[in-house]
Amino acid sequence: MDILVPLLQLLVLLLTLPLHLMALLGCWQPLCKSYFPYLMAVLTSKSNRKMESKKRELFSQIKGLTGASGKVDLLELGCGTGANFQFYPPGCRVTCLDPNPHFEKFLTKSMAENRHLQYERFVVAPGEDMRQLADGSMDVVVCTLVLCSVQSPRKVLQEVQRVLRPGGVLFFWEHVTEPHGSWAFMWQQVLEPTWKHIGDGCCLTRETWKDLENAQFSKVQMERHPPLFKWLPVGPHIMGKAVK
Ligand SMILES: C[S@@+](CC[C@H](N)C(=O)[O-])C[C@H]1O[C@@H](n2cnc3c(N)ncnc32)[C@H](O)[C@@H]1O
Repeated sequence: MDILVPLLQLLVLLLTLPLHLMALLGCWQPLCKSYFPYLMAVLTSKSNRKMESKKRELFSQIKGLTGASGKVDLLELGCGTGANFQFYPPGCRVTCLDPNPHFEKFLTKSMAENRHLQYERFVVAPGEDMRQLADGSMDVVVCTLVLCSVQSPRKVLQEVQRVLRPGGVLFFWEHVTEPHGSWAFMWQQVLEPTWKHIGDGCCLTRETWKDLENAQFSKVQMERHPPLFKWLPVGPHIMGKAVK
């Protein structure tokens, strides 16, 4: 497999050469940022249908996390189209953060469809640098399908810890690498350089559970689930919570 991976990577690279050339010249990124929200809007409704009961179960725990304000202050990190709003208990005060401003149109639509929540603001920034949010200002941070795409999961998790109050909780749902040595992992390695461009930075082979375990949370709980879509190279998922 050691020789097969670079050979197949080269083949995929040749087949998708225009995309890689555009990325090299810096004209792919702006295009990707514009179309990605449309792609996510389609994928989100499909994945929410499959994940509905699991998301409901996970986010039902938010109810008990009311802070000093008497409300739950919740940060939706890497909010995308606002895929999770429908699962939050009424009255949460939601702050959205995403580096891609093109999601705003989709967010506005999700907000209009989920009037049981109170929306604070949309912060356009990466999770690695959330200086616009005060220390200890959040009771809950939610991060779904985001740590695969960030530049540095370690820095993002440090920032999550900073903005969470003591006892605050990070709820996560992320896809991770297939087991090393499997055929599925081999295909992930082959496709990853191209997939990263198509999926706005999405890495297929991250071991995100290690980042979560190594971050300084007092308790981390997670479950592993099989891949959601057989036709995509996206691997198994981890879902759970980490308490500050
Ligand atoms: C696959 S989408 C998931 C969106 C949404 N959380 C969901 O579950 O549908 C990945 C999201 O992460 C965002 N993202 C990428 N890099 C990021 C970063 N450094 N910090 C925060 N969000 C980031 C993208 O703009 C996009 O909205």
